[in-house]
Amino acid sequence: MNTHGEDTILEILQSAVLTIFGGTGDLAYRKLYPALYSLYKKDQLKEDFAVIGTARREWDDAYLREVVIDSIGDAKISDEHVEKFASHFYYQSHNVNDVENYDTLNELIDKLENKYQTCGNRIFYLSVSPSLFGTIARNLKLQHLENERGFTRLVIEKPFGNDYESSKKLNDEIMEHFEEEQIYRVDHYLEKDWIQAIIPFRFSNPVIESLWNHNMIDFINIKVNETLGIGERGVYFDETGALRDMFQNHILQLISLLLMKRPSVLSSSAISEAKVEALQQLQTYTVENIDNHFIRGQYKAGSNNKDAVDYRQEPNVSANSMTETYVAGKLLSNDNNWSGVPVYFTTGKYLTKKVTHVDIHFKEDKDSIFDEQTANKLSILIDPEQTIELVLNGKKAEYTLDPAPLSFQPTEPSKSAGDYEKLMYHVFSGNRTHFVHWNELEVSWKFVDHILENWEKADSPLHFYEVNTTGPEATNELFN
Ligand code: BG6
Repeated sequence: MNTHGEDTILEILQSAVLTIFGGTGDLAYRKLYPALYSLYKKDQLKEDFAVIGTARREWDDAYLREVVIDSIGDAKISDEHVEKFASHFYYQSHNVNDVENYDTLNELIDKLENKYQTCGNRIFYLSVSPSLFGTIARNLKLQHLENERGFTRLVIEKPFGNDYESSKKLNDEIMEHFEEEQIYRVDHYLEKDWIQAIIPFRFSNPVIESLWNHNMIDFINIKVNETLGIGERGVYFDETGALRDMFQNHILQLISLLLMKRPSVLSSSAISEAKVEALQQLQTYTVENIDNHFIRGQYKAGSNNKDAVDYRQEPNVSANSMTETYVAGKLLSNDNNWSGVPVYFTTGKYLTKKVTHVDIHFKEDKDSIFDEQTANKLSILIDPEQTIELVLNGKKAEYTLDPAPLSFQPTEPSKSAGDYEKLMYHVFSGNRTHFVHWNELEVSWKFVDHILENWEKADSPLHFYEVNTTGPEATNELFN
């Protein structure tokens, strides 16, 4: 355990003053305020907390409270209950570049610390443009917004950089003032129940652990497919693309959890080390073979959805944009445990079905005594269903011994708290397991930069696909 008490996996919510930079923003309204209310409703967040919303706008406490109540909508227990919750919220207009504003903020935090007895614990949630992350971190430190009596935690939304260089620069700026253990880099996929379940599922079931290798597994298939287009996010998305937006973070995190070795102990740093090692073992590709491992696609309008337009006609997207809205890949690992086991993935906008699934396909029995049998498969269903499904073989009909597939699912699929509710829970309890550590980010950005560079050098084709389809046909060739 380090001095901030974060490394061991704690699950006790601590009292704190939470300051949200970007308190008037969309994420705060849609996710953060409702998430805090869910914790409050369950009595996990007691009365000893306060939230300060900050942004440039000239709001006041009363207006913020109205917004907070509105964000909760029908989830409220009663008007009285939600009003009591909202009474913990305060608003401070704030210019992140103006150092004097931090003094005012500090005074408000001091006052709330006394009022709510929060023991000097401070959480700063940065839900603003990434270009401001470094400035805020520096000013928080230099204007003495840490209270030595308690912990200080910095929660940083994505995107954390746009490539390795920019993420390193950003990280260096932040680390000049804060320690790694104080930093909670958000990847909301790490809060999804069945992504979190991978660790206990793999390492608390000897039966499963004994199957988790190249002797038994034929290939892994990951789908992170979406049905919506880029909506109003043209500026961000056209600069970013699906490889950075979905693969660099969510999918590589998922792959690291699937391929990692058993961590030495159950601590967030041991888990992170195991994840980093798994990522380092991924094979990289050259300009000659990049197209055999990764393909990029872009959506265009089609007859399946009359409202959709070509990606290139979306607001704030360049008319000849080469930005990918779809990526498919076939990865291999140098780890002997995974020798010859391809990990396939697809991710894209405007596909037929919203799913986040992992299918583990087991090898067929080469010496089978049956003419036909279904290959065993374990599916981890992350979204929208949250469960697992195991396909084995049973028996077909009364008079034969012909195998027939049998599918098992837990009778009660888990019903989990929302991603951001769990995220808030983990921030308040100091559990960094479900956040991205710098070493993971470093390896994953380098991996992604390499793909982007090689796509560029190889002048890799951009495969167009019509909206509401399963994506470019080139995916089939890649996967065969
Ligand atoms: C975000 C991406 O990180 O994840 C979005 O920026 C994407 O482009 C979203 O739509 C998907 O999240 P979820 O939880 O809906 O699968």
